[in-house]
Amino acid sequence: FGRHLIYYEEVPSTQKLAHHLAEDGAAEGTLVVADEQTDGRGRLGRAWHSPKGTGIWMSCILRPTLSLERIPQLTLIAAVSIVRAIKKISGVQCGIKWPNDILFNGKKLVGILTELQAEIESVRAVIIGMGINVNVDADAIPEALKPIATSLKMISGVRQSREQLIAAIMSEFEGLYHMYLEEGFSIIKQMWEAHALNIGQHIHARLANGDVIHGIAQGINDKGVLLLQDDQGETHHIYSADINL
Ligand code: BTN
Repeated sequence: FGRHLIYYEEVPSTQKLAHHLAEDGAAEGTLVVADEQTDGRGRLGRAWHSPKGTGIWMSCILRPTLSLERIPQLTLIAAVSIVRAIKKISGVQCGIKWPNDILFNGKKLVGILTELQAEIESVRAVIIGMGINVNVDADAIPEALKPIATSLKMISGVRQSREQLIAAIMSEFEGLYHMYLEEGFSIIKQMWEAHALNIGQHIHARLANGDVIHGIAQGINDKGVLLLQDDQGETHHIYSADINL
């Protein structure tokens, strides 16, 4: 992955661009990287702060022949890949908040956005957007984000090479992705759980319809769906939600 790399100094959003490229037939593994995004997007239509020169803002195009229900597993593979690459490059050990936030000391270091181009039953392309706060300084973080966001430089005290980190992430991701396609989800599931922050904890899951379910996170199932046991002992399958630890 990332051998076909398209780099921009400034784009509205690498995610939008990757969608266009995928529609025009871009191959699996195509990676769009930008130094700055002027209209970076997060989950649930939120804005994603993407200042110039200090982060990794990139979107990777995949063309898996998977059924729709397996697509969320790709997000978990991306999260595991990034955690492993960060550890390898900087020594920093961060954790994953289901499904796809990477945190250190409760603050967000990485966000992942998985989007789909699909026809009725078949997946045409999957776009995995990754936003990584690498060398962002504390004073460059907007006031409102200070309590919830951090960067690799703030954690480790040193600048990290974005190029090295991108290369490490792509090599982890490519390796785990192919292992997953050949051998299935079970090894990824174990790796994901080893890095997961919420397992065994009491959490709140806010669903898209606004409902909130409280309970103990029990882990993920074979599909990557979060299992949440409420106070009555009933287990809920959470496909998509905002989680508060
Ligand atoms: C989230 O945590 O809400 C997901 C954030 C995803 C941000 C990345 S940065 C590169 C790519 N381009 C975007 O506009 N968004 C994703």
